[in-house]
Amino acid sequence: MVGRAVGDEVRLGVLVSGTGTILEALLAAGLPVRVVLADRPCRGLEVAAGAGVPAELVARSSFGPGFDRDGYTALVVGALRRHQVDLVAMAGFGTVLGPELIRAFPGRVLNTHPALLPNFKGWHAVRDALAAGAEVTGTTVHIATEEVDEGPVLAQEEVKVLPGDTEETLHERIKAVERRLYPETIRRFIEALRAERRGED
Ligand code: GRF
Repeated sequence: MVGRAVGDEVRLGVLVSGTGTILEALLAAGLPVRVVLADRPCRGLEVAAGAGVPAELVARSSFGPGFDRDGYTALVVGALRRHQVDLVAMAGFGTVLGPELIRAFPGRVLNTHPALLPNFKGWHAVRDALAAGAEVTGTTVHIATEEVDEGPVLAQEEVKVLPGDTEETLHERIKAVERRLYPETIRRFIEALRAERRGED
């Protein structure tokens, strides 16, 4: 069982790999981000440091075929436990973690994906939507399960593909929506968790 914070406190851990603009939105929304973990050096770590939030680089030993996914996942889970996290938000995390993450935090790992799942799963969702000629794509917030980009959908919002869109322009419009939808959805999720705890006590 994960060490749980007392009372009403819900401790959020955020996983990042990139520019960290979604993380910035979570922080700006006042969500209880208690630790930020990154799998590689990235701006997300600087965002955390700038906000005074503990940040750790849990560096991957390899990006090649020899990558020990389960060993790496154990390191991430260990860091989350050390910080007594009880809710995990992936915010542009570029490593697919092994099943131990979900087993350690069942129903407590959230993800934001830049497409309308189940369409365009995977790391290149925006590029794939453009390549498929989609006229509408969007974003999905969901509870993560052991399968990549699967799991109960908490919120979805459409974004139109515009003539002349590139992967960058389209992704930026999607991210603008994610920066609103993800914090809102996490806030609702936390309120539900608190209500559930009060019911338990
Ligand atoms: C977001 O579109 C997220 O859905 C995807 O990676 C992007 C992260 O953006 N998985 P940023 O690094 O927070 O700017």
